[in-house]
Parts: sequence; C-alpha cells; structure tokens
Amino acid sequence: MFTLKRSRPADAAATPDTTAGGGPLPRDQLRFFPRNDGPHPTRWAFPAWLDNPGVRWLQALKELYAMPIAFPASLSPEAGLMLHGLIRNLQPRVIVEVGSFCSVSTHWMAAALREAGRTPGAGTPDGAEIHCFDDFGPIHKGPWRDAEMLEGRLEFVKERLEKAGLIDFVRFHKGLSWETLPTARDDLARLGGVDFAFIDGDHSVPGATADFHAVEPVLNTGGYVLLHDTFPEQCGGHMGPRHILDHADTIGQGRYEQVELYLSPLNYGMGLMRRIG
Ligand SMILES: C[S@@+](CC[C@H](N)C(=O)[O-])C[C@H]1O[C@@H](n2cnc3c(N)ncnc32)[C@H](O)[C@@H]1O
Repeated sequence: MFTLKRSRPADAAATPDTTAGGGPLPRDQLRFFPRNDGPHPTRWAFPAWLDNPGVRWLQALKELYAMPIAFPASLSPEAGLMLHGLIRNLQPRVIVEVGSFCSVSTHWMAAALREAGRTPGAGTPDGAEIHCFDDFGPIHKGPWRDAEMLEGRLEFVKERLEKAGLIDFVRFHKGLSWETLPTARDDLARLGGVDFAFIDGDHSVPGATADFHAVEPVLNTGGYVLLHDTFPEQCGGHMGPRHILDHADTIGQGRYEQVELYLSPLNYGMGLMRRIG
C-alpha cells in the first residue's frame, strides 16, 4: 500500500533551525510536509468503510472511482472527504466549481449539501446549488491515465449525477471558463453571490488567474476559494494554483487569508483562501 513519506524528528540533522528567523522555509524543508516518494498508485482506492449499500450517492461514487478514467485527475477519496467536510460545515448557498472533469468533486460537494439538509436550488432559504464550469471536451490518455473519453462527457456527467440522486443541485456551464464565467456573473450576483469557489480547471498561470479574477467580483466576504494542485513539485509542474497563493497579496488585493492543506495518498495540495475584505 502506498504511503506518504514525512519528515520526522529522526531527520533532525537535515531539519533547518526554525527558531533562527529569516522568513518562510521552502515547502520541502518543512518538518511536516508529505512527499510522494513511494511507488505511484495506479487508481484511487475507495475506502471500504464508505461502501454503504444503503447510501445511493456513495454507491454511485464508488462505481465512478472504479472507472479507469477517474484516475488521476479526479480528487482522491481522501481529498474528496476533505472537500465534503468543508461543504458540510460551511454550508455555502452558491458554489462555483471550475473544472468538473468526470464529476467526482461535484459528487462530494453535492452530497455534502444533501447530507447537510439543503434543498436543491438557491432560491429558497434552505436551498443551495453548484454551478459547474467545464469545457466538457475530450479526455485523452496521459500520464497515469490509460483511458480516454473522446465525446459525450457532459452526458456522462449528467448520467452519473442522476444515478447518485444529486443532479438537482447542479447547474452546468459548458465551454471555456474565461468565457462562461464572466457571462454567468450577473446571474450569480442575482442569486446573492458566491459563497464557495472550487477552482480546479486550467492549471496554467494565466488560466488559473483568469478563473480567480472571473469569480472574485461575485465572491461574498467571508466566502472561500479552494485551489487544487498547489504543490507543483508533487503534481506534474502545474504552476497556476501555486501562483495565486504565492501572489495573493497582489492578485487578491490583500483581501484574503489563506492556509495550505496536505492531501493523501498523493500530496498534490490544496490552498484554502477566505475573503475577509
Ligand atoms: C483536474 S480536472 C478537474 C477534476 C475535478 N475537479 C475532480 O476532482 O473530479 C480539470 C478539468 O478542467 C477542465 N478545463 C481545463 N481548462 C478549462 C477551461 N479553460 N475552461 C473550462 N474547463 C477547463 C478540463 O477539461 C477538466 O475537466
């Protein structure tokens, strides 16, 4: 079984003196920073303890994770649980998801709304909805992915969410996010603004920054932005999400506080930003 390696006190000789001052240490020198040094997994393992035959969405999600197409671009079950837990606790009314892929992350969020007692549709006091922005284009084979889906992704995603009993929580915006997000902004504002934005689409610096800027004008104060794949040295060199965290003072105009989250079994990383101004 794949396990993350962490720096331990036994590595003390290699551990920098954190009492000496001098500013933040590089990530890989932190005493507690999980790295992907073991054999690379080839699929996500759905935890046996979540395999509850009485819960429709968990059964549908288990099936989705078993499909080769879901690896490695979908959130791992452990990362999905973190997202699920955040949504269950924060209970956002309007969620934006940039980058739905095969809808694994959408499942985790929509199920969290359902389990938190929210009803589909942000128009009612108990309501909530997720706006998914994705090109829903072809998926090609790639590193660690020996599967493809050349057409029909949006139909596939709708079928999966239907099967999970979650589709009523979801609104779809098919197309390039730098076009569809600005177009949807007025509608999102009319719904009362966005409480939670999960940005996991274009991972280039211009792409991720454009997504952040596109959603930011309608993000409520107190609202959250969650970035995925924030440790480029662990997740294939994608620089966009990292760039936003590292330049939050300018990109976010000093209006955000942030924390970095570690992920398992591959520490691709997440960054959670909260708008406080
Ligand atoms: C890493 S995957 C998202 C994974 C998903 N959040 C999950 O955990 O299940 C990135 C997705 O963003 C989409 N994407 C990338 N750039 C995009 C863009 N500029 N506009 C819309 N979608 C984009 C890709 O097609 C892909 O579906």
